[in-house]
Amino acid sequence: MSEPYSLLILPGDGIGPEVMAEVVKVIDWFQANRGLNFDVSHDLVGGAAYDAHGVPLADDTMARAQAADAVLLGAVGGPKYDQLDFSVKPERGLLRLRKEMDLFANLRPAQCFDALADFSSLKRDVVAGLDILIVRELTSGVYFGEPRGIHSDDNNPENEGGRVGINTQRYTSGEIRRVARAAFELAKRRGNKVCSMEKANVMESGILWREEVQWVHDNEYPDVELTHMYADNGAMQLVRRPQQFDVIVTDNLFGDILSDAAAMLTGSLGMLPSASLGAPMANGRPKALYEPVHGSAPDIAGQGKANPIACILSFAMALRYSFDQGDAAAELEQAVEKVLADGVRTPDLMGAQGGIQVSTAQMGDKIIAALAGG
Ligand code: NAI
Ligand code: MG
Repeated sequence: MSEPYSLLILPGDGIGPEVMAEVVKVIDWFQANRGLNFDVSHDLVGGAAYDAHGVPLADDTMARAQAADAVLLGAVGGPKYDQLDFSVKPERGLLRLRKEMDLFANLRPAQCFDALADFSSLKRDVVAGLDILIVRELTSGVYFGEPRGIHSDDNNPENEGGRVGINTQRYTSGEIRRVARAAFELAKRRGNKVCSMEKANVMESGILWREEVQWVHDNEYPDVELTHMYADNGAMQLVRRPQQFDVIVTDNLFGDILSDAAAMLTGSLGMLPSASLGAPMANGRPKALYEPVHGSAPDIAGQGKANPIACILSFAMALRYSFDQGDAAAELEQAVEKVLADGVRTPDLMGAQGGIQVSTAQMGDKIIAALAGG
């Protein structure tokens, strides 16, 4: 038995608890069959926490998240909570976790499983076998920079409408270096290649970005291949020849857009995992939150239609990045790949080719069977 890994599970709302139930089966399987030892606890986030405590994340839950080796979250939100005051909206629970854990590196893999290549908006030969990782800076940049706001522009009679909207892109060298380090570390475990994207041609913060990423490379990771690309060209290259990339590192704004664009290279929202990592804790593991990219999908909640693979692959990322169980992570990813190759499909994956349609729970069971060699 290994040292226990503490894992806090926050299923959240809508399909969150449905997909998380399948992850729990996977965790149990690894405990029973691979000698992994998880100390799992469950708590509430989002609308579920609001219903119980009047807040989308209780202080006590926040403290447990800070202490956990990893947090695994389902999804938050739903129509029931749309009228709530901004300060207690379900999304605020997720934002609080990200902010207080200082999760500055958002990892968004774009991986195309061969069996699903026809779901891509691009041609099969452009995306088949695609496996890239976008690292987006998550805690700074234009979404947080000051000054910001909407002001009157009364002294400027030329301005029709009389108002001005302001946001500030601000990055410190330290903020750039720490996310660059995360990207280089990840690249070392993969294809050993980092492409950094900014707009150094028109933005000073982009010049600093380029210089600091280069500095981290030259001083700490000279053996990883580093290239720089303007983010607009990066967007073109992502849809033209995505296989040229391994790890892409970019700022908060460009990362938001580029990671969503890359996601569509691979097909369904029900397939996309993510991780958000922070600084190392006393035990050397990074602060970490793992979650599927999708939301609470109220349109299909409670019907057994949700695809649990995004959440299961998020747990695979936890195995790899928090628990250093790369072999177990690969084993889980291969089980998912096998099930897809066998034609097993939740409704969101039933394309023109058809397949064997299964429910959320049946998909979980098929993945367990594939793990067990069935
Ligand atoms: P969504 O991701 O929940 O759903 C978009 C579409 O994709 C829906 O048609 C849904 O049925 C489908 N879908 C999503 N996940 C799926 C899965 N695992 N399997 C099969 N189909 C899936 O985004 P939407 O509809 O914009 O938002 C719904 C709620 O979720 C809102 O309250 C929103 O605020 C919240 N949300 C929460 C997020 C989070 O917790 N990180 C992220 C995005 C939205
Ligand atoms: Mg986005």
